[in-house]
Amino acid sequence: MVDRRRLALLPIERWPTRDQAAVSRWFAPLEVGRLHLRERTWIPAMVPWRASPEGEVTDAVIAWYRRFAEGRPGAIVVEATGIRDVPSGPLLRVGHDRFLPGLERLVRAVREASNGQTRLFLQIIDFLSIKRRPDPAVFFRRFLKIDDPLRARLPAELADLPEPELREALVAASPDDHARWLPPRELESLRMGQRERVTDVHLPHVRELPRVLPELFAAAADRARRAGFDGVELHYAHAYTMASFLSRKNDRADGYGGDREGRVRLPLEVHAAVRAAVGPKFTVGARFLGHEHLEDGSDLDDARHYALCFARAGFDFLSISKGGKFEDAKQPPVGEAAYPYTGPSGHECMPTTKIGPPGPFGRNVPLAAAIRADLRAAGFDTPVVTAGGIASPWQAESILERGEADVVACARQALADPDFFRKIREGRGEEVRRCLFTNYCEGLDQKHREVTCQLWDRDHTSPSPDGLRSADGKRRLVAPPWS
Ligand SMILES: Cc1cc2nc3c(=O)[nH]c(=O)nc-3n(C[C@H](O)[C@H](O)[C@H](O)COP(=O)(O)O)c2cc1C
Ligand code: SF4
Repeated sequence: MVDRRRLALLPIERWPTRDQAAVSRWFAPLEVGRLHLRERTWIPAMVPWRASPEGEVTDAVIAWYRRFAEGRPGAIVVEATGIRDVPSGPLLRVGHDRFLPGLERLVRAVREASNGQTRLFLQIIDFLSIKRRPDPAVFFRRFLKIDDPLRARLPAELADLPEPELREALVAASPDDHARWLPPRELESLRMGQRERVTDVHLPHVRELPRVLPELFAAAADRARRAGFDGVELHYAHAYTMASFLSRKNDRADGYGGDREGRVRLPLEVHAAVRAAVGPKFTVGARFLGHEHLEDGSDLDDARHYALCFARAGFDFLSISKGGKFEDAKQPPVGEAAYPYTGPSGHECMPTTKIGPPGPFGRNVPLAAAIRADLRAAGFDTPVVTAGGIASPWQAESILERGEADVVACARQALADPDFFRKIREGRGEEVRRCLFTNYCEGLDQKHREVTCQLWDRDHTSPSPDGLRSADGKRRLVAPPWS
């Protein structure tokens, strides 16, 4: 039977032969800062939800990266890893020296599986608090702050009620009444779950971010260096703290918001602190947004400006992503947190075959291309990484040939088949397990469940190394071997 989803794939009439691959641009070397990349193939960060509840590297984390390293890409960026020493669920962490032994083990596994061919970066991240969407009754009885500004918005018959009665009246009120009466942030907390912003400067820990973040990023980057990584990627993209400083929505009035110079100030100060901590030889790049894809958000003009600032400051590479914001995320069910890849901006970040014209394939390349053109015109040779719906060697080749990027990254295609790059290198492209770009994996990420690919799950012919299975026992945690 015809699998309709395969009909939506980018056609590949013939795959490159081994000889064609050997002379292709994608498999040609590149200098990234002082680092030699054997080829321009790259796996960008993907959180697989395999760390321990304490944020430690587990055997499943090792198996995940070892499997990618067997395909020997030029570089792998290890998933977003928290820089603070605070509980963050099963998200990898690098906020204390006790995380070093696990990270060292991870580096050793990648070196071994790739025979030292793959460069390894750690993506380091800071994020603010986001709460689950509350049960409305619990929200009105326990969380809503009852103060004079709120009372001033209420109709006369409620405005002066004693607090316990007012809370019960709000529980009984309709969603339309809530929409009329609650201040916008309280309404958002009710509908989406409470979410902090970098502009919440009334909160001391948010006001203090410019003072604490440079040091936290610097210490985390230095730990990555000590663990043996080749470099770090500062996570300045998507829905998280640093991207929020860069956003046009950042109107902080303390010199770290407002105009572009203010918005880029903290990202530059973080970089300066990181560079001072790790020295000149360690690779320090950033991932940031070529476009936020939000109403009143940052656009390509902002990104071009930031790219020039970053190049001037000496970033070793710039990886361009798109969207992935909380502001337009879908309403989560009660008891779950909003996920920044569910709304229109999120769809731009991880495009599926259902996305509108021009489709998912190479959708974000024009952003990288414009940024790279500016950098070159200004005399900077900073390498630019592009990602988003790239899954064919011909597509990668034409991006490089046209000078739209220096590195072409594949996340989901490498997830679907970690031997992707190796198969092409060896002229055996017909054997590639092609990504369907329908985002089963992203659905698992959304629920913070172990990320796997639907195409491996159906392969019951080969056991998972070490018998690794998902918590429900139904899914293999490692892609099937290439035999
Ligand atoms: C399961 C999953 C987890 C991801 N986690 C991260 C992450 O930790 N950091 C990041 O910058 N991007 C993350 N991404 C986005 C990818 O790096 C990439 O930009 C995106 O999937 C588009 O590229 P692709 O079309 O090659 O998949 C994730 C993507 C997926 C599918
Ligand atoms: S589940 Fe597999 S096939 Fe589907 S989008 Fe993710 S990587 Fe591609």
